Amino acid sequence: YPPGTSPLRGAMKDTFAYSTVKERLPVILTKCVDTLSRELHARTLAAPSSPADAEKAAEAKHIIAEISKLVYELQRDRPLQPLTDTEEDVGVWNATLASLAAKGPATWYQLPWLFIECYLYRKIHELFILTVHWKEYDIFATQQKETSFSGSVKSMEELAKHLRDVQTRTLNDDEQKTVLREFVHFCLWGNQTDLSLLQDVAHADMHKMQQTSAAGLKQLEEKVIVNDTQALLQEIEGITAGRVDIIMDNAGFELYSDLILADWLVHAGVAKLVVFHAKRIGWFVSDTTSRDFHWTLDAIQKHAKAIGDDNLDSRIERWRGLLAAGTWRLQVDPFWTLPYPFWQIPTAGAELYADICKSQLLIFKGDLNYRKCVYDLDWKTTTSVEDALGGLCDARTPPLVMLRTCKSDPAVGLRAGQAEELDRADPKWRVNGKWGMIQFRPRTQT
Ligand code: F6P
Ligand code: MG
Repeated sequence: YPPGTSPLRGAMKDTFAYSTVKERLPVILTKCVDTLSRELHARTLAAPSSPADAEKAAEAKHIIAEISKLVYELQRDRPLQPLTDTEEDVGVWNATLASLAAKGPATWYQLPWLFIECYLYRKIHELFILTVHWKEYDIFATQQKETSFSGSVKSMEELAKHLRDVQTRTLNDDEQKTVLREFVHFCLWGNQTDLSLLQDVAHADMHKMQQTSAAGLKQLEEKVIVNDTQALLQEIEGITAGRVDIIMDNAGFELYSDLILADWLVHAGVAKLVVFHAKRIGWFVSDTTSRDFHWTLDAIQKHAKAIGDDNLDSRIERWRGLLAAGTWRLQVDPFWTLPYPFWQIPTAGAELYADICKSQLLIFKGDLNYRKCVYDLDWKTTTSVEDALGGLCDARTPPLVMLRTCKSDPAVGLRAGQAEELDRADPKWRVNGKWGMIQFRPRTQT
């Protein structure tokens, strides 16, 4: 780690790492137990009539017991155990765990927060793939990602109307710029609605949080604590028929806001290829897997047809067309669900890195991607973005932007005195998701 920095850990009592390990992760795990218990009490499993159902029920009980054991071990700060399944990435996980264990106690509060939190989702995945009947099951899908979807449909309808309006008008350069700026900001605030943080938010509140009007966005502008929109727009203006990569975060409304931005980039002639990077496994509750991606398109279209919203319906058709034509590409690389910070993409993810270097712009969405970009260290807030991006600032790295609402401790690139001002304005500014960052980094000049 660079001198003067160390990784955030659960043991650091005045951090969000601590409250996550102490309070949030047990809640997330308990919700998994609830979801499975509900499955278990569904009719066929409650009174299994076939040997297969009986086996399925027994497996669910076993997973419930294992998750409960994880909660127990986490709350007592026990050591993490190596993974035991046979998926390709097991070696990376166990080698990383072993090398961290060689440096000190390998427990839930003592290991780097980034590692233990990623491990937790990989461990949950393991519990399912080691079964016969639950291999394909995404524990976060039905109870969480899919249920929260209906809280966002109203915002989706509104945004689709806005997109149609601006696409059917002839816009001058200034108007084009304003529209692009709006879609970038929608895309930023779309990150507010992640489910690992909003465990109990009501649907009505969800709509209130989702900005779908230009006036609403304007008001939020003062909440953007690092706002490199100008530099970003200038970079985008220089791209014609290029490639843009979106390293996605959450499914649902955030995914929708990504698709809207991607639609605009294609429409405006900026991109002839947009690559969407999804997660291989259920990740941080609400992150987009390829299943979620397709599920979301289907669900929006079903909703559009049900309410007779032809505009929304044809928007989804357009998106399906872009996917079929290869103008949009959905890509799943195992690297995104490994424990590595992104400083290690050029080395540990060499193949992925070679691919994303073909892009003209990388858009990293969300809080976890931000943590991974800046290595999840306890940086001073005045650290330059170049220093914090470290290995991700190789001369080959395309220009990149991080669009993130602040939901964890790390924040870099702030003015001297800005963190203190924010502390006075809102002591929870780092973690409550009410503040955002549009942090851009141009290509390294050689
Ligand atoms: O649990 C911690 C965390 O990584 C936070 O940083 C954030 O609250 C959440 O999980 C994920 O947020 P996002 O979906 O924006 O990456
Ligand atoms: Mg997420």
